[in-house]
Amino acid sequence: MSLLSVHDLVAQSGPTRVVDGVSFAVRAGRSLGLVGESGSGKSVTCLSVLGLPPRGVQVSGGRVLFDGEDLRAKTPAELHALRGREIGMILQDPMTSLNPLLPIGRQITEMYRYREGVANRKARESRAVELLRRVRVAAPESRLNSYPHEFSGGMRQRVAIAMNLACNPRLLIADEPTTALDITVRLQILDLLREVQAERGTAIMLVTHDLPLVRRYCDDVAVMYAGRIVEQGPVEQVFARPRHPYTKGLLGAVPRLRDLQHRLTVIPGQPPSPGSIAQGCRFAPRCPRAQADCLSAYPATRAVDAHRSVACWHPEPDARTPDALLATAAS
Ligand SMILES: Nc1ncnc2c1ncn2[C@@H]1O[C@H](COP(=O)(O)OP(=O)(O)O)[C@@H](O)[C@H]1O
Ligand code: SF4
Ligand SMILES: [Mg+2]
Repeated sequence: MSLLSVHDLVAQSGPTRVVDGVSFAVRAGRSLGLVGESGSGKSVTCLSVLGLPPRGVQVSGGRVLFDGEDLRAKTPAELHALRGREIGMILQDPMTSLNPLLPIGRQITEMYRYREGVANRKARESRAVELLRRVRVAAPESRLNSYPHEFSGGMRQRVAIAMNLACNPRLLIADEPTTALDITVRLQILDLLREVQAERGTAIMLVTHDLPLVRRYCDDVAVMYAGRIVEQGPVEQVFARPRHPYTKGLLGAVPRLRDLQHRLTVIPGQPPSPGSIAQGCRFAPRCPRAQADCLSAYPATRAVDAHRSVACWHPEPDARTPDALLATAAS
């Protein structure tokens, strides 16, 4: 079952649609990786789902259902209550989750007091210390009285992650949560998120441009290009047999998938800027499979398998062997 489902979400800056009809679902207890080059609309998508579009951007269409409830119909106060209780958010700027005026120990212990009803102060403090240790904050006992500004950027992000874990949300939206952290800490934090997911059944939406990370940590993947989702499906299937030429290009740009230090290098050419989008497929100028008809209309998203969809007029052939195809057809 989907905990979060987004249908045809549109967010625009003036007349320009920076998110243009995006649909995806995050299943309860599962993790969805949202990937795509910088500027493709990943952050605006997350912020729009949370009801916090950036200044200058309006959410102008679509439905956002969380556990069956339409978030777009909620008041700002209702959304505020939902965020931090049911929906956690770890954004690129950790200060969105932290209160600059309170020592971090207080922020975490208050969470335990109000959300989990832990009455004893010492018990709350020891849980806060334990949590800070889990996000690899050194000497956590001595940091409880520090304010957010006394931490470095990377350390602040770890504290923000701890805060979110203390809330015990059902859905965690993490937008490049570990980009500012070095590789070792990044992997530790992601392992921690995965542990938490296994322990508590938290659903996670992880935004990243790091494909090896998605392969290692996510169940499902949605690939975004120029404001739209071009391919979606279970990670192992999409990575093994990408059907959209853009996905194939992204995967081809990562020669060694096991090398987590390898950052995504881009496919030749540039994505279009949102205002410049003409009709037809937005990937056409960079697409090795483009044909004349690709420019006539945007390809509709269609199912290519039980759990997979692709928006392309001429998708990559399904590279499965005839035997595997027959087995799927029979199942
Ligand atoms: N506050 C804003 N006002 C107007 N346009 C914006 C704003 N924030 C982002 N955009 C535009 O929306 C597009 C998508 O941005 P973003 O969601 O940040 O991409 P990503 O997170 O995938 O790198 C970009 O073209 C960006 O210029
Ligand atoms: S619709 Fe055409 S141009 Fe677009 S990705 Fe598919 S083949 Fe390439
Ligand atoms: Mg972003």
